[in-house]
Amino acid sequence: MTLETLAQRAQRRRFLKPFAGHPTWPPPMWLMRQAGRYLPEYREIRAKAGSFLNLCYTPELAAEVTLQPIRRYGFDASILFSDILVVPDALGQEVNFVEGEGPRLDAIEDAGGVSRLKPGATGEKFSIVAETVSRLRRDLPDETALIGFCGAPWTVATYMVGGRGSPDQAAARLMAYRDPETFQRLMDILVETSVDYLSRQVEAGADALQIFDSWAGSLADDQFARWVVAPTRVMVAQLKEKYPEIPILGFPRGADQLSAWFVSETGVDGISCNTAMPLRGMVELSERTGRVVQGNLDPLLLVAGGKQLDDRVEEILTAMKGRKFIFNLGHGILQFTPPENVSRLVDRVRSSP
Ligand code: CP3
Repeated sequence: MTLETLAQRAQRRRFLKPFAGHPTWPPPMWLMRQAGRYLPEYREIRAKAGSFLNLCYTPELAAEVTLQPIRRYGFDASILFSDILVVPDALGQEVNFVEGEGPRLDAIEDAGGVSRLKPGATGEKFSIVAETVSRLRRDLPDETALIGFCGAPWTVATYMVGGRGSPDQAAARLMAYRDPETFQRLMDILVETSVDYLSRQVEAGADALQIFDSWAGSLADDQFARWVVAPTRVMVAQLKEKYPEIPILGFPRGADQLSAWFVSETGVDGISCNTAMPLRGMVELSERTGRVVQGNLDPLLLVAGGKQLDDRVEEILTAMKGRKFIFNLGHGILQFTPPENVSRLVDRVRSSP
């Protein structure tokens, strides 16, 4: 398979410029979870699809909701519409999205649960997602980059072992302490499956990848090294070997003081910072690693809007001016975000001198 070089793609798609070594201003921007329930046009398609997973597995509809925020706001990047829990679903674990409650999985409790996963059976579902990616590359404006993604093994494992989201990820952390061999086996399966999943997205036309480690911040530093850094490093190395021209962003949410170490150990091309990362920390990360930094507006401030929003956006832009920077939120956009506040944000960032 021949891919255009990063430098070639960066000429047409400004999102890629910082990765090609060219800081650009105003900074490229997109928002995590930019497709979703805050948009009336998403709610309409979502109702038509029936279940959330059915939306993820219907390429025509998944591509349509990916395009909606691009049409409305003209972001520099789109992100494939799917979910991190497509991977356990494809592995044969039972996954349901319960209305108003979030995901529910048939929890893996022991070695037997891990051995019931079917790493050989993911092809059919991954092909459906790849079809969404191909459609998107065909239908997106040529200047819009397309980001593929998956959950990091640690974060996906917290749902697979806990059976649902939890504030402290206790079930997965306990399994990792009590039975590290079994937990390692689960992580190995997730590393291999996720690399395959991301490879299919690249082959279908993704320009860049983001690995979401939403629960990286709940681990002690030795566990962070073992379950966040090590698996991510393997994934990045394998992807880089196959696709050296595809930038990879890490999002180790809550990694805090371990962020620079995360970047150098894993070899990611960029790091997405959560809201609690001080601007001073983002500047330091940029200086110490030389990599792309993305972030980190508080999603709640986008709900609030007004002068507070304008002032903080200004602060972020001032701190990051001249750096390899991508404007984003510190976490996903919230359901009750007024769409007009997003327009206001886009205007402010776009008019940054
Ligand atoms: O626009 C985009 O960013 C692309 C799509 C995307 C979704 N989920 C769609 C979605 C992405 C990149 C994700 C990532 C994701 N999913 C993460 C990592 C990022 C993060 O937010 O921390 C996690 C932990 C999940 C798991 C997940 N999916 C949960 C916990 C939930 C329920 C909570 C909620 O907000 O409802 C989901 C459901 C989900 N994934 C929705 C969307 C648009 C809402 C469901 C619906 O429309 O009914």
